[in-house]
Amino acid sequence: MQYLVANFKSHKTSVEVAQWVEAMKGIEVPDDLDVIVCPPFPYAFQVFGMLQEFEVEFVVGTQDVSPFPLGAYTGEVAAEQIAEFADYAIVGHSERRKYFDEDHQQVANKVRELLHVSVQPIVCVDEPYMKQQLAAIDEDFYQDLIVAYEPLEAIGSGKPDTPEHATAVAEEIREVAGEVPVLYGGSVTPMNIGGFIEEEALSGFLVGGASLDASKWQEMIGTYRN
Ligand code: PGA
Repeated sequence: MQYLVANFKSHKTSVEVAQWVEAMKGIEVPDDLDVIVCPPFPYAFQVFGMLQEFEVEFVVGTQDVSPFPLGAYTGEVAAEQIAEFADYAIVGHSERRKYFDEDHQQVANKVRELLHVSVQPIVCVDEPYMKQQLAAIDEDFYQDLIVAYEPLEAIGSGKPDTPEHATAVAEEIREVAGEVPVLYGGSVTPMNIGGFIEEEALSGFLVGGASLDASKWQEMIGTYRN
């Protein structure tokens, strides 16, 4: 299975999100590709409904989740709430680690909460902390993870890693976590995705900036049909 993940981050209003989903009407998604849209929380349920209405074969993911179960945790969204509409959740994105002081243990707790309700975690890791980031997660959970390798200097910079280096890192990740799907993220665009797709060690991509543009997103899905 291959995975293409659109991470909208804190971009787009509800109208813009709706226009993006509407633009996907009629798009053909290859059987072995899971296309995962991660909008901001307030729009996730809206996207879930629109994808069904327009018969677009994408699924919904979230950009984060609470490290706690349902309860008195103001401002948080629990995994059980997410499970109503999402199949996947990104956790430990470097922006969360950097701006919101998310630590390895919190990420590990988020993974536990998600797996408890069968939402698949997409755990973001980066060098040089990768080994510690993975080690914080209970080894029993490794088989259910997707790991996204996102080098900090490649995120939003227009300077992606090389496919060869991303492959070497994917292999290092598998030495620790076993046969997990490894995604690459960081300045992936329709122009450069082809070079990465050729690398068998990679199982897909986490795309920020280029996912915001509906036509670029369609182009990237199109690359899988060729
Ligand atoms: P980018 O972001 O594609 O804009 O570099 C990737 C990410 O942070 O997930």
